[in-house]
Amino acid sequence: MRAEGAVGNDKPKSCGSGNTMAAVTNSIFSPELAARFDRLVTLYPLKRSALVPMLLYAQDEIGYVSEAAIQEIATRLDLFDLDVRSVLSYYSMLRTKPAGKYNVQVCTNISCMLRGGYQILDHCKKKLGIGHKQTTPDGQFSLEEVECIGACCWAPAMQVNYDFHEDLTPAKVDTILADYAAGKGKDVK
Ligand code: FES
Repeated sequence: MRAEGAVGNDKPKSCGSGNTMAAVTNSIFSPELAARFDRLVTLYPLKRSALVPMLLYAQDEIGYVSEAAIQEIATRLDLFDLDVRSVLSYYSMLRTKPAGKYNVQVCTNISCMLRGGYQILDHCKKKLGIGHKQTTPDGQFSLEEVECIGACCWAPAMQVNYDFHEDLTPAKVDTILADYAAGKGKDVK
């Protein structure tokens, strides 16, 4: 996780409609991500279209979308901070506070609900000892109840970071969580 810091930048050169980019001289992001952002903003007719991808990439690198990230992204896209915050608050997959190393998202929407989604959620709560949008004291897991994650055909389903786990049962959840805790989860890096 990178430390937050002030973003050095020039004034925006336009109002988010062109492809010119406000210069960011002291990015809070890694050089690789900063270069990716430099390129990303040139790919869309309207540079504000890069906002959601930028927020996701920022979250992937920092662990959440920090104040400094909001400011830098606003600068890069010639937007007001408020424009960024409006989008940020709309999407439930974006967060402004750190989550656990493994973010467990359990779907309780209709298909999953009918096939035991709430049972899976309750089981995760008991197993991890935390509730919705909480993180275990060791920072290993966080838990969220979420809307449909697009795995309805294999309900009940949950997502851990970017990996899907389907046809869940409490016993299967135990194995999945144990694998992550042991560093053997699907997307363990
Ligand atoms: S309803 Fe749960 S994945 Fe669609």
